[in-house]
Amino acid sequence: MDHKDWRELHDSVVEWILQAGNKLRSSLSSPLEVSVKTAYNDLVTNMDKTIEQFLIGKIRESYPDSKVISEEGFGDAPENLDGMLWFVDPIDGTLNYVMQKRFFAISIGVYENGKGKAAFVYDVMANELFHCISGFGAYRNQQRLLNLQPIKVEDSLIDLSMSWIKPNRRIDPDILTDIIRRSSGTRAYGAASIELAYVAAGIIDAYFTMRLSPWDYAAGLILIREVGGIATRADGSPINLLSRTSVLTSGRFLHHEIENHIQAQVAAGKFLKEPPQF
Ligand code: IPD
Ligand code: CA
Ligand code: CA
Repeated sequence: MDHKDWRELHDSVVEWILQAGNKLRSSLSSPLEVSVKTAYNDLVTNMDKTIEQFLIGKIRESYPDSKVISEEGFGDAPENLDGMLWFVDPIDGTLNYVMQKRFFAISIGVYENGKGKAAFVYDVMANELFHCISGFGAYRNQQRLLNLQPIKVEDSLIDLSMSWIKPNRRIDPDILTDIIRRSSGTRAYGAASIELAYVAAGIIDAYFTMRLSPWDYAAGLILIREVGGIATRADGSPINLLSRTSVLTSGRFLHHEIENHIQAQVAAGKFLKEPPQF
C-alpha cells in the first residue's frame, strides 16, 4: 500500500473507532452484562464482544485479505506476521470500564509483514485519540507529539502495577525497588494501551509490565517508536509480536538505564520469567 492507501485506512479506522466509542459511552447508561473470565478480576462484558465484532466486521469488509488478532475470539489465529495484520482490543481496561466507567480504550494496531504501519488508541471517556501513520508523526487528537527527550530516573514518572513489586511469579519484587525509590514517582492507570500512548505523549516517562498480550501493546508500540522511544521485553530482548510478553518502554536514555539495572539484578541471581504463551 502507498501513503495514500494508508491515509485512507487511517481515516476509515478513525471513523469506526469514533462510532464504537459512541456505542461504549451509551452502554454506560444501562446495566452491563459482566462475566468472569479467568479470575475474579479478569472480566468480560457483552460490550467487549459487541465492539470486537463491529470492528472486525468493518476490517473484513474493507480489507478482506488481512488477518486479525483480537482478544475476544472473533479474529484469526495467524502463525506468522506475513501480510497485513490487525491487532484489536475492543475494550482495553475492562475492569476500569466496569468499575470506574472511565479510563478504558479501543486499541487497534496495523502491521504489514511485521512492520508497524498505523496505530490508534482511543481513550473513550476523555475523547482523546492517539494515532499515527508510521513515518508521518504521532498525534494526540490534532496535536503532533514531540520526540522523547533524554531524561534521568530521578526526573521520571514510572508507570507500573503494584503486582510487580510484591511477591509474584514473574519478577523478583526487589528488582525494581531501587529504580522506584530514585524516580520522581509512580503511576498506574489500569489500561495498558493508554499507558503506552502516555509514554509516547510524554505524560509518563516509562511503562513496565511483566504480562501483556499482542492486542494490548501492538498499537502503543507503534506510537512509541514513532516518537523515538524504545520497547523491549523486561531484560532488553526484542518483543515477538505473536507472544504474551513483558514490556519495558520509554525514551532511549531512560530505557538504557532501567534495562542495565534489571540485567545487573538478574546477573546477581534475582529471577525474571516471561509469561506463559497461548
Ligand atoms: C488489561 C489491561 C491492564 C493490563 C492487563 C490487560 P483488558 O487489558 O490493559 O492494564 O495490566 O495485562 O490484560 O483485559 O482490560 O483488555
Ligand atoms: Ca487489553
Ligand atoms: Ca480487552
